[in-house]
Amino acid sequence: MDIQSLRREIHSLKMQGLASATLASRLHDLVHAFMLHPSLAQLMPELQSKGLYQRYRLSDPRDDFHIILVAWAPGQTSPIHDHHDIIGAVATLQGQVIETRFRRDISMGPLCKLEPTAQYELSPLSVSQILPGKEMQLHQMTNAGQQWAATLHVYLERLEQFQIYRPWVKPWYMVRPQTLWFDEDTQYSEPYNQVVATLPFGNAKGEREVSRL
Ligand SMILES: [Fe+2]
Repeated sequence: MDIQSLRREIHSLKMQGLASATLASRLHDLVHAFMLHPSLAQLMPELQSKGLYQRYRLSDPRDDFHIILVAWAPGQTSPIHDHHDIIGAVATLQGQVIETRFRRDISMGPLCKLEPTAQYELSPLSVSQILPGKEMQLHQMTNAGQQWAATLHVYLERLEQFQIYRPWVKPWYMVRPQTLWFDEDTQYSEPYNQVVATLPFGNAKGEREVSRL
């Protein structure tokens, strides 16, 4: 399945009025099919050659959902974050990625306590689901390997508002709203706006520009 087919399928999926669990399951299958497309493998060397943490929007800016590809240098990690109760799927395309899930416990104003609930190694071609609910929304991702990793993030809504959770005085975390997803991660790379990457992304009709979020 190429990127245009994936976009069409997501548009169609969203029109069907399915329950959350069914939606998440169908999305899982679509993401898995898309991961097998050879154009993604062609993209990997291009990403690594840039030498930076990068995010690429593969969906069209007019789409009412997000398909995003992230490249991770060895050891890079995301902040702990939620996903605005949006249904999504996260997949590892390459590398050794660890996902840690958290549950939000006690809240006190902008502070809260978090409890780690699970940790998974997302092996290549595996897909992890993001579901509404307090135990399925919060996570942190880390490239635990010595090589570059790449992950694919598909959300059934545009993930433009979410929250990150920064360590505060133990055991508290400070909750901060964000208007752009994963924006905080760019602290690990060059200033966000200085890099405008365009990469060829092959599909059945030719090439498509991939723009950085
Ligand atoms: Fe995430």
